[in-house]
Amino acid sequence: MPKRLSERVALVTGAARGIGFTAARRLVQEGARVLLSDIDETVLSEAAASLTREGFIVAATPCDVAKIASIEAMVAKAARDWGRIDIVVNNAAISDDTPVEELDSERWRHVLAVNLDSVLNVSKAALPHLKQSPSGSIVNIASVQGIRGQPHAMAYATAKGGVINLTRCMAVDFGPFGIRANAVAPGYIDTRMAEQKLDTPHEHKTDWFQDIYFKYGRMPLRRAGKPEDIAGPILFLASDDSLYVTGTVLVVDGGFTATY
Ligand SMILES: NC(=O)c1ccc[n+]([C@@H]2O[C@H](COP(=O)([O-])OP(=O)(O)OC[C@H]3O[C@@H](n4cnc5c(N)ncnc54)[C@H](O)[C@@H]3O)[C@@H](O)[C@H]2O)c1
Repeated sequence: MPKRLSERVALVTGAARGIGFTAARRLVQEGARVLLSDIDETVLSEAAASLTREGFIVAATPCDVAKIASIEAMVAKAARDWGRIDIVVNNAAISDDTPVEELDSERWRHVLAVNLDSVLNVSKAALPHLKQSPSGSIVNIASVQGIRGQPHAMAYATAKGGVINLTRCMAVDFGPFGIRANAVAPGYIDTRMAEQKLDTPHEHKTDWFQDIYFKYGRMPLRRAGKPEDIAGPILFLASDDSLYVTGTVLVVDGGFTATY
């Protein structure tokens, strides 16, 4: 049986670890050639080397998604090496738990630049190549925090809410070119980012986070998510299995937002 992404080229940001790495692995398993990028060069090269050892065709390039020149270099590398870009997974992001009293404009701007502006800038840079694709697909990684409020999440949650509506706008503007745009909104997924949240110095926040997810049983599936739980939905939206799906938000949260 032919693989679902044979001949396709995918670009995944924040691919050195966590959800991005696991998604990149899932895409190469389905036959895509994948350019992994990340701001963390050391972990990125280890991640790419591990996939190469498994026999997959991957490349890696450092990229800070908050910087337009860095984004343009990443997109140029994918186009130069493989002559096309069919899939963009906008995954790179940083966590932020700053209470409003400490949230200065510099921090606010930085979180928005990494978590929201990047989604527009990477997609815009890749757009000429996606237009050439027979099946262009953009998958933006949002969060359940983009649809619900959470303590001390103003910058992060605002960015993720922005990602969700930016995705809808992309679907509308890019649809006539045959390019689909969808978002995945993960709940609690066991990665370094989630660990950082549990280590937050704001003790009351830590209690809230642990209580709401586990103590009060608000997780219908009774477990934290794993990166693999998100990689499958990303593959679905990247592949032709979802050819008539665009502008949607696929919530992947173990049922967390199904209750209150
Ligand atoms: N883990 C969760 O519970 C959770 C929940 C909802 C949404 N998400 C989202 O999933 C995505 C992946 O998160 P994760 O949990 O795998 O986190 P992670 O911290 O494990 O991985 C994020 C990666 O992004 C990279 N990165 C950070 N800033 C960057 C920049 N400026 N340029 C390029 N790369 C940069 C990091 O180096 C890291 O490798 C993010 O968009 C995150 O907001 C995660």
